Amino acid sequence: MKFFVDTADVPAIAELNELGMVDGVTTNPSLIKKSGRDILEVTKEICDLVDGPVSAEVTATDAETMIAEGRKLAKIADNIAVKVPLTWDGLKACKVLTGEGNMVNVTLCFSANQALLAAKAGATFISPFIGRLDDINLDGLDLIADIRTIYDNFGYETEILAASIRTANHIAECAKIGADVITAPPAVISGMVKHPLTDKGLDAFLADIKEAGISIL
Ligand code: E4P
Repeated sequence: MKFFVDTADVPAIAELNELGMVDGVTTNPSLIKKSGRDILEVTKEICDLVDGPVSAEVTATDAETMIAEGRKLAKIADNIAVKVPLTWDGLKACKVLTGEGNMVNVTLCFSANQALLAAKAGATFISPFIGRLDDINLDGLDLIADIRTIYDNFGYETEILAASIRTANHIAECAKIGADVITAPPAVISGMVKHPLTDKGLDAFLADIKEAGISIL
């Protein structure tokens, strides 16, 4: 499964990238705002840093302007994935931009029907938002499973990019269900390493190393 990092924080991306944990990056207007950076500048910096797809989201809501923005974003680097919202105009923009050879990430997906439309519009990635469904007492992971079934039933090649991931458990569950990609904040990805039995076991080993005076170097 591919790991995308859901942030516009360049040092955080660089740190995970050095460990080989970054297969791509996703940003959105809220993450760009949080970075305090100019969208074009920070996106270029991220594209230079990572080899995989870097999602940069349009700001318009009408297809014509989304297409113009998407063309401009795509010029930043070869690894740009233009991110468009899952609206009728977003689907129109998706169709045109993928037809021109660009990667397109269709975002803000909250239903299997929306995911079906995105696949038919030729989306490279579909981004179902798990956490925001969980927030309203629905099961975001159920949506990932439904989309997996539908895409496999008909052989759609659109990659399922599980988004709005809030916990390390979401990532393991997405891997079991068969999401192609997860995108998560850096802290959630690094948090995957934590297990209380690892900490407990290491404490016991360290105590024995001290007591026995074990040394290697
Ligand atoms: C994905 O592309 C989105 O940027 C992101 O995962 C949304 O996450 P949130 O619901 O935690 O804001």
